[in-house]
Amino acid sequence: MSPIETSIAAFSLLGIGIVAVTLIFILLGRNEPAGHQKFLRWAHRITGYIFIILYLFICVVMLRRLTVNSAALSANDALHAYFGIVIFPMIVAKICIVRFYKKYCNRLPIYGMIIMTAVYMTVTLSAGYYVLSMAKSQYVFLLDKGRLVKVNINIGRKVVRQKCSTCHSLERVYAYVKTEADWQNYVMRMRAKDPLIMSDLEALQAVGYLVKNLGIDDTKLDVQLGMRIILEKCHKCHTLERIFTFKKTRAEWAQTLELMRSFDPYLLNDSEARQVNYYLGKILAKQQAGQ
Ligand code: HEC
Ligand code: HEC
Repeated sequence: MSPIETSIAAFSLLGIGIVAVTLIFILLGRNEPAGHQKFLRWAHRITGYIFIILYLFICVVMLRRLTVNSAALSANDALHAYFGIVIFPMIVAKICIVRFYKKYCNRLPIYGMIIMTAVYMTVTLSAGYYVLSMAKSQYVFLLDKGRLVKVNINIGRKVVRQKCSTCHSLERVYAYVKTEADWQNYVMRMRAKDPLIMSDLEALQAVGYLVKNLGIDDTKLDVQLGMRIILEKCHKCHTLERIFTFKKTRAEWAQTLELMRSFDPYLLNDSEARQVNYYLGKILAKQQAGQ
């Protein structure tokens, strides 16, 4: 199930719970005629059963999600899981009282309220948070299996911070700038090391975040980006001094860069080379004679 579907299920659960509680409060709080009372009791029971079925259904979906996910839970998700699980014994206790221990019946409204509070906390921590973050999020469009999909960057950020730090530090991630194809490739490689670490959707969201924040935009040449790539890549064979102490014309720089690329064909891809060339031509350019 997608997060949107589970959110709808969660809000439905909250709504049905509120209806069930309201029905019983009307029953207890007003002196309704006997016919009405019977109806209210009956309606409360029906909404109660719907509530339990929906609750169990959501539990199954969530437990499956929990067992598929091999990364540690965030604090928010952990609280959400605990509140969600706590609802179960309370429902069982409530049913037991109704069925077998009628003398505690006058405490039922209190139990009902406690259950509803737990449901409220569970739902606001997950679905409520999700809806709010959806409304405030930034999006990018990515190509996925031939389709253009809208990807939530804010969730992607969370995925990267949570999942990409399980095997190595995030520094390893943030040290790089890459093109979209490269990030796709990297995330695919990382997932191959531990296929359970993230779902397809999460991987896409992570790529969205990485492309947006650590991506090379081919339509925009950027000096900062060029410098980052040089700092990251050009120190493998000689010191960076070799580069920054030179002044060359734009054409000479292009030539030098091609020479470096011929030493190591994997040094830069074409997008990176363009950004580096831009930096070198702009910042380390020699004034040409006569200019
Ligand atoms: C299952 C463990 C694991 C997870 C999860 C993981 N990585 Fe990695 N990552 C590795 C290993 C091992 C290496 C070094 C070997 C290699 O480059 O394949 C690495 C290397 C890298 C490198 C290259 C670093 C370098 O210095 O060469 C980048 C960039 C990277 N990971 C990004 C990510 C991103 C982004 C994510 C989250 C989508 C991620 N990793 C999640 C295990 C992981
Ligand atoms: C695979 C190893 C390798 C990498 C990686 C590398 N270089 Fe070089 N670089 C060399 C060698 C070898 C020389 C010396 C070549 C010569 O003197 O003819 C050199 C020399 C240079 C020089 C001096 C050239 C001159 O005209 O005297 C510059 C500038 C330079 N590199 C820039 C870069 C830049 C920019 C990068 C990153 C994009 C880079 N290098 C990455 C191997 C490398």
